[in-house]
This record gives sequence, C-alpha cells and structure tokens, in this order.
Amino acid sequence: MTNPGKLQQGMRHIPMSAPDLTDKEREAVGAVMQTPRLSMGPEVEGFEQSVARAVGARHAIAVNSGSAGLHLCVRAAGIRDGDWVITTPFSFVASANVLLYERATPIFVDVDPQTGNIDPELFATAVRDLESGSGRAERWLPRRGAQEQAALKALLSVDVFGQPADYDALIPVVEDHRLTLIEDSCEALGASYRSRPAGMQGDVGVFAFYPNKQITTAEGGMIVTDDDTLAEMMRALRNQGRAPGDTWLEHTYLGYNYRLNELSAALGRVQMTRLEELLQKRERVARWYGERLAEIAQVEVPQVVAPTTRMSWFVYVIRLSGEIDRSALVEQLEARGVPTRPYFTPIHLQPYFREQYGYEQGDFPVTEDLGRRSLALPFASTFSEEDVDYVCRQLHAVLRALD
Ligand SMILES: Cc1ncc(COP(=O)(O)O)c(C=O)c1O
Repeated sequence: MTNPGKLQQGMRHIPMSAPDLTDKEREAVGAVMQTPRLSMGPEVEGFEQSVARAVGARHAIAVNSGSAGLHLCVRAAGIRDGDWVITTPFSFVASANVLLYERATPIFVDVDPQTGNIDPELFATAVRDLESGSGRAERWLPRRGAQEQAALKALLSVDVFGQPADYDALIPVVEDHRLTLIEDSCEALGASYRSRPAGMQGDVGVFAFYPNKQITTAEGGMIVTDDDTLAEMMRALRNQGRAPGDTWLEHTYLGYNYRLNELSAALGRVQMTRLEELLQKRERVARWYGERLAEIAQVEVPQVVAPTTRMSWFVYVIRLSGEIDRSALVEQLEARGVPTRPYFTPIHLQPYFREQYGYEQGDFPVTEDLGRRSLALPFASTFSEEDVDYVCRQLHAVLRALD
C-alpha cells in the first residue's frame, strides 16, 4: 500500500484500484439489512440469473470467492490424487493452488509472450508427449512430486488480465484427448472470443469479484456451465455437500461452505445491471493510457490480439524494456503518489512450489521474462482523464531520470 507520509510535496495520491459504487448498490445492500434473510435467499438467485443471462449459461452458481469456484470445478470434474492437469505459471496463484488442494499435479506450460495466455503449440506438444506413455512425458513433469504414470485429466486455462486464451487452437486438442476444460475467467468477465463470452469456452468457467475486478461483491465468485451434472454437483459441494433432497443435517458428499451471502449478492446484482457501463469506462481508461504511453520507448503497452473480439480490462499492465531498474521505478513512483504492482511473480517460483516440485529459475523463460518486466499501473473505472494523465507524467519523469 502507498504510504502517503512518504509522498513528495505537491504530489497527488492515486489509488491502485477502486470499486465503482453508486447509491443503487448502497440501497440494495441496505434493503437486505432490513430483512432477516442474510444467506441463501432471493438475492443470490437473482445474481446467479443475471450472470447466467449475461454469458448465455444454463447454470450460474454463486460462491464466496473465485478460488472457491475453481476448487469446486476441480472437485466436480473428478480430478484427484496424482492426476495431471495442464495450466500456466503466469497467473494469480489460486489457479494452480486449487489443483494442490486435491493433490493433483499442475503440469505447467509456458505462455505466449504477447498475451501471457497458454501457448497453444506448447500445449499441443505437452498433451502429445504426456499421452505418449514414453519418456517424452518427462520433460513436462516437475523434477519431483509428480507420479510418473498418471492420467492427464484437464486443461485449466487462464484468461490473463481480461483477454481470453486462444481457444480455437486449444479446443481441438482438448476434445481429441477428452480433457475437461476449466476456464479461469476470474479476470475476464465481459470479454469475448470470436463473440463467444469468456467463461463459456470450455466445460466450466469461473469469474471473481474482489473489489478491483470488473464488478465486485466485496468477495465472491461465480461458476458458469451448460453441464447439468457438473452444476448439480457444484451446488451440493458449495453447500456442505447437501444433495437435492438432503435436509439441513444430511450431507451426501464431503462439501464446503463456499456460499455467497445475500448482502454481497445484492451488491453484485446491481453491479451486473451496470456491467456494460463499467466495461466501457474501463475501456476508456485503457485508451487514455494507450494514447499517452505509445510514444515512450522503454514501455510496451498491452495488446489486444485477434480473435479476442472484446477485451475486458481488468488491470493495465505495461512491460518495461530490459534495462529499466523496476524496483527503483516502483519506489520513485510511490514517492510521487503512484502505486504500482509487479505482475505476476511466476507461480513455479513461489517457495512452496519450489519445495514441493523442485522448480528452478529458468524452467519457464517466457513467464519469467514477463514476470520480471511487467508492471501494473493504477487502474479503475472511476479514473478521470486527469488521473491517467498524472500517472503517465510521473512515469515519464521517473523514466527520464532513470535513463
Ligand atoms: C486468474 C485468477 N484466478 C483466480 C483468482 C481468485 O479469485 P479470488 O481472489 O476471488 O479467490 C483470481 C483473483 O484475483 C485471479 O486473478
């Protein structure tokens, strides 16, 4: 967090992100407060219906975080002890953690340098090698901690920063090998790929609603799927394993309390009525950044690549040229009231991943390069053009001083 105490004189303070709330949200939450129904009520159902409608899903299942939603997908897909699941190390850590919760082995595949999403060619090669039953599988397995002869069950692909992965290239391989496709769209509500909504590319998708997301419920998430069997199982698992017909104290399955509360759902329902407005405001902020940063030689701005038909801007992440001292830049921007975040620290280099699987620096070069050079600038739908202007002027000034 920025410490305003360290601010240089005459500098403004820009927040890293901010929820976009109106009196409508405040009234909706207040109205729930007037009722005795704070959980398992009509707001959750209404919120589920609004997300289902927005993405064209048969089922939407509200949960209390994106991580909880991804965990339920993994469990409902029957992924268990030792199973291999392909995913990427350039993501928020939760997308791989949910595999560890079920003692499945994440098989990391490196990403496309442009988008940060899974590289489809590497994915196809990994699947072929892992399914070959020969020594070729070994190059994809971690140094330790994986069963040598396990079943490859799924692809958990991440729509990084609000841009869908390249599903036209991924899906034929997924289908040929009968893998489950779990789409981590926690950063991508509102995006589309060849006009198909993010979240709906595979068997099941998940959105997340932390306050920096496109819409917020404070904490929360939503699973979407067209699969009736998966949906029924996930509804049971989020509610302490109660199957349809179970009473309050009957639990057919080992489940969890992953329920979203009514206050959060009421907030989410109003936010969903504003989704298009919020997406457009985010697009505008991204455009203001793009216009101002295009000319700075040391900065690469984020690119939206075909066949993404709509990017849903979650964060605005620039890439610095290799010679820039990112830590010095971060520190000096902070002193000028501009917080930033290095995005992402590669998952395979987190201490417990290194320890459990023996990963080392150099294992996923594209991810590591992006991890070293990426920097998220402050970003929110509430920003004015002056806010963006201020951030860009400070960035420019600090880069000139560091040159
Ligand atoms: C790619 C990705 N996956 C999963 C999550 C987890 O969502 P939550 O923080 O709601 O648990 C996030 C959240 O930021 C995310 O960005």
